[in-house]
Amino acid sequence: MMTIAMVDDNEVNLALYERVVADMEGCAAKTFASSKVALEWLSVNAADLVVVDYRMPEPDGLDMIRRLRSMNGHRDVPIVMLTSAKERETRLAALDLGANDFLAKPVDKVEFQVRVRNLLALRQSQRHLADRAAWLAEEVRRATEQVHARERETIIRLSHLAEYRDDDTAQHTVRMAHYCAVVARNLAFSEQEQELLLLASPLHDIGKVGIPDRILLKPGKLAPQEWEVMKRHTEIGAAILADSTSDILRMAASIALSHHEKFDGSGYPKGLKGEQIPIEGRICAISDVFDALTSKRPYKEAWPVERALRTIDESDGSHFDPRIVRAFKQGFDEIMKLKQRFAG
Ligand SMILES: [Fe+2]
Ligand SMILES: [Fe+2]
Repeated sequence: MMTIAMVDDNEVNLALYERVVADMEGCAAKTFASSKVALEWLSVNAADLVVVDYRMPEPDGLDMIRRLRSMNGHRDVPIVMLTSAKERETRLAALDLGANDFLAKPVDKVEFQVRVRNLLALRQSQRHLADRAAWLAEEVRRATEQVHARERETIIRLSHLAEYRDDDTAQHTVRMAHYCAVVARNLAFSEQEQELLLLASPLHDIGKVGIPDRILLKPGKLAPQEWEVMKRHTEIGAAILADSTSDILRMAASIALSHHEKFDGSGYPKGLKGEQIPIEGRICAISDVFDALTSKRPYKEAWPVERALRTIDESDGSHFDPRIVRAFKQGFDEIMKLKQRFAG
C-alpha cells in the first residue's frame, strides 16, 4: 500500500482529493488541514507521495517543501504542489526547493490521478533500487565473510602441515599462538592485530618441511653442519609464505623468518638486534620458548613453570625484548589458564 499525504487548509478541497485517491488501487490517503500537523506526522511516518497546497497559513507550501527536504527519509519522496495557474514564480521557487510536479487548482480528477500514478511509479523504482542496493551490500558482506573463513581454514590446515613432521604435539602451536595474542593485547595491539598474530604464529616452523628427515628427526644432538641446515627452516618458511596478498600470510612469513632472532643480536638467520627484529617475531620468540620449555619433548621432560620463568628472566634483554617480557608476565595468569586449556 502506498501512502499519499495531502495537505490543504481548505477542508472541502481535502475531502475532494480524498475521494479521488479512494478510487485509486493500492493507495491510501492521509489528509491534513494544517501544514504544521502534517509536518509533525511526517517527521515520524513515511509517505510515498506528498501533495501540498501553496496558499496555507504558516508554514505555507514552499516552506513545507523546504522542511520536508531537510528531513531524513523525505529527501527524495515525490512532492506535488497545488497552485493556481497564475502563480508561475511560485512554481519556479517550488522546483528550486525540490518539488517534482504541479497541479493546477481547481484539481481535475483525471489529471490528478495520472500525475499521482506517474510519481508513485517513480517512487516504486526508487524503492526497488534502494532494496536492491541493500540486498547487494548484504550479499557482498556474506561473500567476503566466506572468503575470510576459507582463508582462515586453509591457514589452520597449513599449520597442521607444519607440525606434522615435527616431534612437537599439535597443541604446541595452538598454545603458543594464544600466548602471542595475550602478549599482543598487553602491548595494546588492536583486536584485529591480535587475531592476525593468533592465526599467523602457528606457521612459525612451517619451513621444517624443507629439512631432511635425518636431521629433523635425528635423536640426540645435531652436529654443527646439521645445525646449520636446521636453522634454514626460518628462511624456507619465509620463502614458502612470501609475497602473499593475505595479511595473515605476510605476517606469518615475517614470523617464520624472525622467530629465532635474539634481542642482543645473537640469534639467526640474520643476527638482527633489538627493534630490527619485527615485533611479531619478538612476541613469538618468548611464546614459543616458554611453551617448548614447559612441554615434554622426546629429548626432555616438561620443565616446572618456575624454572621456565627463571630462564626467561635470565634471558631478559639478551634473548628477549624486556618490554615483551613485561607484557608476557603481565598476562601470566591468563597464559597459565591457556596452558591448562590446551594441555596435551
Ligand atoms: Fe623454529
Ligand atoms: Fe615452535
